[in-house]
Amino acid sequence: MMNLELSRIKCYFCSMDKMKKLVATTYAGLEQVLAEELIQIGADDVQAARRSVYFSGNDEMVYRANYSLRTALKILVPIRNFKIFKVDDLYYQAGKIKWEEIFDSNQTFAVQSKVFSELFQNSMYASLKVKDAIVDRFRRISGQRPSVNPNNPDIQINLHIANNQCTISLDSSGESLHKRGYRLGTHDAPISEVLAAGMIKLSGWSGEEALWDPMCGSGTIAIEAAMIAKNVLPGEIRKSFAFQKWKDFKSEVFERIKNEKDHNNVSFSIYGSDISRRNIDLAYMNAEKALVGNIVQLTIADFSLAERKPEVSFLLFNPPYGERILSGDQAFYAMIGERLKHHYDGSNAWIISTNACLKSIGLKPASRIPLFNGSLQCSFRKYELYKGSEKSR
Ligand SMILES: C[S@@+](CC[C@H](N)C(=O)[O-])C[C@H]1O[C@@H](n2cnc3c(N)ncnc32)[C@H](O)[C@@H]1O
Repeated sequence: MMNLELSRIKCYFCSMDKMKKLVATTYAGLEQVLAEELIQIGADDVQAARRSVYFSGNDEMVYRANYSLRTALKILVPIRNFKIFKVDDLYYQAGKIKWEEIFDSNQTFAVQSKVFSELFQNSMYASLKVKDAIVDRFRRISGQRPSVNPNNPDIQINLHIANNQCTISLDSSGESLHKRGYRLGTHDAPISEVLAAGMIKLSGWSGEEALWDPMCGSGTIAIEAAMIAKNVLPGEIRKSFAFQKWKDFKSEVFERIKNEKDHNNVSFSIYGSDISRRNIDLAYMNAEKALVGNIVQLTIADFSLAERKPEVSFLLFNPPYGERILSGDQAFYAMIGERLKHHYDGSNAWIISTNACLKSIGLKPASRIPLFNGSLQCSFRKYELYKGSEKSR
């Protein structure tokens, strides 16, 4: 009896401890900060690639990565790699996966594809082949078939084809991880939560000093900074992840991860201000939902007139861009440069915008990092502000 119990326990830990090759996806330019985050949570074999980071870990690592990474968009679990030479090879290979061990026929699924291959005219056709293979396999085995739900599936399957090489993965995240769950309202041009967190990490902000976003919109940058300072993990607010619908989901392991939370006492403030009252109202609601309402201080203020906050020497913001908000003109950026130069000496200011807009700031950046905001090519620049000329420093 004792031995049977022991072997059960051992067996349970075997499957839990099974190391898997995993992939975390992100935005271009954030690969290195994501790799550092993965190392911090204990991932193995971490290797940055293009808009993704490869790593390995067990099921617990899959849950932890989803719950705690600030700069990941998705955590993918590759389940089959293979070569194809004709279209039907995809159907055949996808049908060999034991889908019935992953989910039940009464659950819904969807297949998302990225295809770079002459074998397929479009990625929808490739998705269709995998879908048929899954449905036919379920029918063969149980007589019942799962339904497809493209908008809100229980099980999200990811297909990647580059020339002849195919990878079928389970998307363990479901909705992109930038959807933390705190955005209750938004305006025309919010920045992605993942991009905001990535910029904060790229800037080298210590997490232990005040930070000010003087054009905060719905508050994303201030909220992400406050979450870092307080150690609120992104998953704390989110309702669900796709891995919770898998047949082998171990709820007790996920509960343990959730219970590890350890918030810091923060003795400084993160400031956000904006010219728009509506945006400040949104930012206020979002900060409360993100569990950082007590750290984030929000005010309505026009940056061209705003008083310097004596306790703040770190600014990080994304002003309106020409392409997305009409006020992003040359005079506006010249005003930002003039305010920074004459009122913020001794501070560092990081700004993301288009190269064209940033030209009008009229200050020499100490560093510049290429990033994308959506499809817009941008530059994330650091301005070290000091009195007088650079030579007099
Ligand atoms: C690109 S949006 C910032 C988006 C924000 N990061 C977010 O995630 O919601 C630019 C913001 O600058 C604000 N703004 C425009 N002119 C301003 C000014 N003179 N002073 C302060 N804020 C201004 C706009 O109201 C808008 O919310």
